[in-house]
Amino acid sequence: MTVKDDLPLDIGPLRERLVRDGRLVDWEHHETIDSTNRRAAVVGREGLAGPVLVTAEHQSAGRGRQGRVWESPAHRNFYGSFVLCPKVAQAELAPITLVAALAVSDAIAGIGLADAAIKWPNDVLLGGRKVAGILTELDSAANGEFCVVVGIGVNLNLQEEDFPPELRSKAGSLAWHGGRSVDRSDFVESLTQAFLDRVHAFEQRGFAGLRADYEQRHVLQGEVVRVDGGAGYTGRVLGVDDAGALLLATAQGQQAVHAGEVTLAGSYETLGGAVSKN
Ligand code: BTN
Repeated sequence: MTVKDDLPLDIGPLRERLVRDGRLVDWEHHETIDSTNRRAAVVGREGLAGPVLVTAEHQSAGRGRQGRVWESPAHRNFYGSFVLCPKVAQAELAPITLVAALAVSDAIAGIGLADAAIKWPNDVLLGGRKVAGILTELDSAANGEFCVVVGIGVNLNLQEEDFPPELRSKAGSLAWHGGRSVDRSDFVESLTQAFLDRVHAFEQRGFAGLRADYEQRHVLQGEVVRVDGGAGYTGRVLGVDDAGALLLATAQGQQAVHAGEVTLAGSYETLGGAVSKN
């Protein structure tokens, strides 16, 4: 991957923008770190109930789902983790990762790019290519409360030639899709506001209040898919339920799928869900 010499974030003015309405308790930014998820968990354990945002220009050990590596070249993308102790019962927390996907698609719209789609549970796509991934990890705070780390990686200013040829049909970036570079400070602000808004709505109304928005952006809605892992169902996607599970109409009746890798059954083509390397 070629890495151009792009500029780091302008910290001072961005801090003002992020904390001015008082909803974000703190923002911690690193030039380089192993993983913002690991650091955010430490912040949570130290007792800051959050929400706190930890971001980095570069990660040396970025974590993807299922133990994959999240490639994290410097100064081009967004790597950030929110740590928070949400006001919902722990048993009702599972859809937070879908809530985060909604927030990422809002943030993309917020900087002027329409049509971001979501692939269950939490991949965000532009033009059918994965541009963002989310890794959610549960932790407990010093005061005994549970808190959650929601780690988000978004490909912002990578260009087509930055992706290895074998990934170019599956992975993309906002700049490549939109034909213009993205102001990373604008994106961090847009994402932070969208995330805090969506989490607030989730705390107030549960995922039931966000389902319609999610399904409207869900790229698999109505498609016949196969789920690898778990019970391994094939069926038509009906939507998602209030717990964030994928609802399928299968030959065995309606099934709620809580985990697994989903692919279109017809072509058996992944929609970028297996992609965690840029
Ligand atoms: C996926 O595999 O789709 C999830 C990728 C999540 C990557 C982000 S980048 C910021 C945060 N820190 C990490 O180590 N991982 C997440």
